[in-house]
Amino acid sequence: MDVELRGITKRFGPIVANAEIDLDIRAGEVLGLLGENGAGKSTLMNVLCGLYTPDEGNIIIDGKPVTFDGPGAAIAAGIGMVHQHFMLVPVFTVAENAILGIEPTKQVDYLDLAAARQQVNEIGDRYGLQVDPDARIEDLPVGTQQRVEIIKVLVRSADVLILDEPTAVLTPQEVEEFFGIVRSLRDAGKAIVFITHKLDEILEISDRITVLRGGRVTGYGDPKTLTEQRLAEMMVGRPVRFDVDKAPYNPGDLLLEVRDLTVLRANDEIAADHVSLEVRSGEIVGIAGVQGNGQSALIEAITGLHRPVDGTIIFDGQDITNVSVRARHAMGMAHIPEDRQRTGIIGDFTVAENMALNSYYDERYAKGMSIVWPAVATHAADYVADFDVRTPSVHAKASQLSGGNQQKLVVARELSRDTKLLIAAQPTRGLDVGSVEYIHGRVVAARDEGDGVLIMSSELDEILALSDRILVMFKGRIVAEFDASKQPVDRNAVGLAMAGSAPRAAA
Ligand SMILES: Nc1ncnc2c1ncn2[C@@H]1O[C@H](COP(=O)(O)OP(=O)(O)OP(=O)(O)O)[C@@H](O)[C@H]1O
Ligand SMILES: [Mg+2]
Repeated sequence: MDVELRGITKRFGPIVANAEIDLDIRAGEVLGLLGENGAGKSTLMNVLCGLYTPDEGNIIIDGKPVTFDGPGAAIAAGIGMVHQHFMLVPVFTVAENAILGIEPTKQVDYLDLAAARQQVNEIGDRYGLQVDPDARIEDLPVGTQQRVEIIKVLVRSADVLILDEPTAVLTPQEVEEFFGIVRSLRDAGKAIVFITHKLDEILEISDRITVLRGGRVTGYGDPKTLTEQRLAEMMVGRPVRFDVDKAPYNPGDLLLEVRDLTVLRANDEIAADHVSLEVRSGEIVGIAGVQGNGQSALIEAITGLHRPVDGTIIFDGQDITNVSVRARHAMGMAHIPEDRQRTGIIGDFTVAENMALNSYYDERYAKGMSIVWPAVATHAADYVADFDVRTPSVHAKASQLSGGNQQKLVVARELSRDTKLLIAAQPTRGLDVGSVEYIHGRVVAARDEGDGVLIMSSELDEILALSDRILVMFKGRIVAEFDASKQPVDRNAVGLAMAGSAPRAAA
């Protein structure tokens, strides 16, 4: 099935998210869709999947113009979308999620779960997408949840699959497996639209590339001849640096001391197992690891979101093991949480309100017991400008921002305060290359000014680019440490440790 988008324009009030966009999507091809944060990629795909009605333009399927009055119509036409933010019901099983809204019934109104299970298994076998149909979503790693999202689309027999940043939360190994699945779908004749900010991925997986900027198509590319540098320039309109400039390593006082910390998961399994680490002023410590090896729990314990069952956390000379999140914050701890929509922002609050979310009581925003709203707006406007958060105004709701701009909002809030220690989990998730360059610059500047930084990322390249020391977590423990302060660390050695196959390295 081939799809043509012709002259698509989509406005939100005064904002033109898509302006006269033409796009060709062909059976048996992967179309890479690239563009900076807020360029209009998700909006365009939401038009194609029937969620938004375009203000102008046509959707043409196999030569015939169609109109969709909702997602149901697009699904019926064979168009399926995996959204940028997961839409699975955590307490339902894989099979239950797969058939949500199109439940097969037996006799009158009896849910036929056996049929659903069988469908999940058949699709799994056909495309190499195996998942246990009876597993509950909340118990599955994100990589597997991503598969379920795709199964959900395939159960609805989609011929066109739109994948909006499907790899943003995947580890390199998961990405490789995922690409295998994408190729098998393509070879089976499906048309695939693939959105990502990772330029190496788009070059590897796409057959053709289309670039958007400011709501318009600004370029086309052939992945066989394009380079990452050139792609970056097409996206953001200027050359982008991929490496990071740092002052020489000159660590100061001990800022954070974690001793024998043990943290449990909700099901009482051990997530972090007697972990000890230190962060000094003026250094960036990176935690590398395959997702699910305890990094998230460790970070949540340090930042106060999760109570450890054993061990101590000392910050700036004080035992903070049991103090509140707010007390940690007041002592100068900043936290970029890994899931912006769950713990980073409140979608129904404005950009300004979100900027002041965890410090509305500090002197920037409050006078006595009351919040000075004009001050909140003024500060927010400054931070929005500094971090290039693309929003019509600081009074727009955060949920109306593009995914990457929501991320920039969280990072801006946490980096625009006078802090001593930054705990950053997946700080650049979903950011375009230009924004990654800027945020990395700010993190290094914080370190050069004497902050301590603890950064956790599933992007090994990000860990390698930023860290002075690298710790590798595997099965809840720190299994290796690398000194990156003088010379670059061997990527392979870190990768091996992440897979649990290296002895504790001396240096
Ligand atoms: N529901 C909405 N209401 C108002 N404005 C919106 C809405 N959805 C998107 N926008 C605006 O439309 C523009 C394009 O957003 P879109 O989400 O399509 O960007 P994107 O290219 O997917 O970016 P990202 O890489 O950050 O995901 C942005 O300026 C955004 O703020
Ligand atoms: Mg998007």
